[in-house]
Amino acid sequence: PNIALIKYWGKRDELLKLPTVPSLSLTIDNLYTQATIEFSKELDEDNYVMNGKVVTGGKQLERISQHLKLIREVANGSCDKGIIARVIGKDNKKCSKDIAKLRAKVVIENNFPDALSNSSSNFTALTIAACKALDMRINNKEISMIARQGSGTACRSMFGGIVEWTKGSKKDGSDSFASQIHDNKHWPELRAIMLILDPKEKKVKGSQGMKISKETSPFYEQWTKESEKDIKDIKAAIKQKDFSRFGKIMESNCLRMHSIMISSSPSLIYLKPETLVMVEKIKSLRENNLECYFTIDAGANIMLLCQEKDVEKIIESLDGMPFIHDFIICSQGEDAKLYDEHLF
Ligand code: PMV
Repeated sequence: PNIALIKYWGKRDELLKLPTVPSLSLTIDNLYTQATIEFSKELDEDNYVMNGKVVTGGKQLERISQHLKLIREVANGSCDKGIIARVIGKDNKKCSKDIAKLRAKVVIENNFPDALSNSSSNFTALTIAACKALDMRINNKEISMIARQGSGTACRSMFGGIVEWTKGSKKDGSDSFASQIHDNKHWPELRAIMLILDPKEKKVKGSQGMKISKETSPFYEQWTKESEKDIKDIKAAIKQKDFSRFGKIMESNCLRMHSIMISSSPSLIYLKPETLVMVEKIKSLRENNLECYFTIDAGANIMLLCQEKDVEKIIESLDGMPFIHDFIICSQGEDAKLYDEHLF
């Protein structure tokens, strides 16, 4: 998974999942998603097992099946959606009838709770595994463009360290993909502490919520302009390893995203009272010379960013806070990888 330091919230193209803003993320270690996939002519339909449970219907299965259909179409060159058809499809034209008939068994496992959004790493893992299983000639940038169509933020989980997803301006999406800005060795002291305050999944899913915000928040356009500036500024802070500047830009970008969520109609309030208590706590830690900053996605949980030297003291000072269900300390992760160990 990755944590957005500069947020994505809204699409300029719903089908191709092209964003209205560039975003920047940090890929985290310790938490991971594994996927195994097998295509076969013997199966009548796509089968999907997620964290040990067979998914028999609903939106989740529909999204996975749609994504598998896209990958099959890319593999046999029959896809007509944006850049993927032209650039990737032509190199991968296989026997279209055979590939179109294949159905897949997919097993995905996460080692972290559902409260931390898993759609990005799920779709990255699924895409990499499926492209390999279909023996596609494809590079990481192209895989990131396919993963983006499963779940926008999945394109960022392809790479380790600090990753940028460019907004692009082309209609076909050929200039909207993720790439690594710095690997995990550039700023190894950086730590993310995931504070799980609400273990339940969010009520209004990201894709639904961001559409509402784009269509209804009166501040949306201004937000997109500020985001462009935030990306530039935070990249400079990261390059110089200026933690104070980094943290301030990250927090204000996060709060601005929540302000467009709250000002949407209907209003999207993902923050809970506990979230705000934690925000105050983080501010008070700062006042006591424990420098740390927060970011919050479309949910109530907090991601606290700090430096390695302060982790222990920060954890000590959070001890006893009643609504912290769990916390996970992470460094920066590496690129997604193919393994020979399979889940079935
Ligand atoms: O992954 P989705 O489609 O639920 O989008 C969520 C986007 C944010 O997490 C709120 C921000 C981001 O850039 O990851």
